[in-house]
Amino acid sequence: MISLKFLYNNPLGKLFTNDKISKNSVVILAETDPDLDSDQQRAQYVRSIPKALLFKNLLLQGYLVNPKFLKKIDNFQIKSDDLWLATYPKSGTTWTEEIISLIYNNGDIDKVKDKLLATRVVHFEVGPPLGHSRWLKKLKSPRLLATHLPVTHIPSQLKQSKCKIIYVMRNPKDNAVSYYHHHRISTYLGNYRGPWNTFVDLFANGHLAHGDWFEHIKGYRQLSIQYPNRVLFISYEELKTDLPKMIELIANFVERKLSQEVIDRIAKHCSFDEMKTNNMVNREKIPIKDLFDMTESKFMRKGIIGDWKTHFSTQQSKQFDDKYNDKLNELGLTVCYDSEDAYHRMQTNGRIINKNFQSFDDNQNITDNSDSGYDISL
Ligand code: A3P
Repeated sequence: MISLKFLYNNPLGKLFTNDKISKNSVVILAETDPDLDSDQQRAQYVRSIPKALLFKNLLLQGYLVNPKFLKKIDNFQIKSDDLWLATYPKSGTTWTEEIISLIYNNGDIDKVKDKLLATRVVHFEVGPPLGHSRWLKKLKSPRLLATHLPVTHIPSQLKQSKCKIIYVMRNPKDNAVSYYHHHRISTYLGNYRGPWNTFVDLFANGHLAHGDWFEHIKGYRQLSIQYPNRVLFISYEELKTDLPKMIELIANFVERKLSQEVIDRIAKHCSFDEMKTNNMVNREKIPIKDLFDMTESKFMRKGIIGDWKTHFSTQQSKQFDDKYNDKLNELGLTVCYDSEDAYHRMQTNGRIINKNFQSFDDNQNITDNSDSGYDISL
């Protein structure tokens, strides 16, 4: 079993992992950012992440993200039958990965039950220090790929190609809580030990690894409005409230016809309780022994809507409402912070996040898009 610390900090390991990063490149070591010390809170956070990188100003972890790979991202060949999953970290990536993997295997659990999820849905920008891009190229089609990169940083071909993209958003309060705990258990993120109050500010100010939460949502939301047949925009709260319905929606989107029996089987397999004990998805069995320290909490932590209520002060909650709700509304998104509200909205509207929406055309003029070919309300 490999050790992260051995790989990146031992002289022999460094031979494999160290890329020469010049100061004028699109990827620099974040600690060399000349502006770093202008914000002490951000600087302290950035320095807590081992070998943190800035990829065109986007903060990324330094372990398992190869600067050489990042520099060549724009040359990556997209295939028209690829399926991409894009998320801000902690929005339900793993969950949706397992769902799409099963949809592509027609719900045959025997086919996936002994294969690590990371080999079935492959993370685009995160991978072993050697051979990652070769591996991506050699994957059998249709490739299932996942990324946390914002639209501004994905291969430009991906925006125009025929391939499909699923984007999953989660309400920002639960997203921040989940990311906080994730930082605490993740060695590659420096096992954050600062206070919650600082973390929540870092989230709101867009300083965390993978950048600003709202900008992430906005970029993919605009893409989904521009290409409604190619980009499906869904939410964690929708998955949580009516999983069978959302599995059917995703399957229709990727043009796989599933029987009700298969849908129900996938839903059962992808319930939180089952995924929590499934070693192929819960990160308890991975080839790197010190990627996580799960003594304090697990990767599959709570899996609920509304855990933010145990972390946010009244003032922090109001700050998030003021900061995000109107801006999300402008993108035709309503955000849901509570499981009862989620249930009610799913019952009455069929979906939670989408309002009757307007879209941005190439010139950013607002146009009515309600007649687009794909029915977002199922
Ligand atoms: P919590 O930390 O709130 O529990 P990601 O895969 O993007 O890193 O997201 C992880 C979050 O999704 C964690 O949230 C995890 O528990 C939750 N999650 C994973 N599988 C889930 C499932 N089947 N049902 C509900 N939540 C799930």
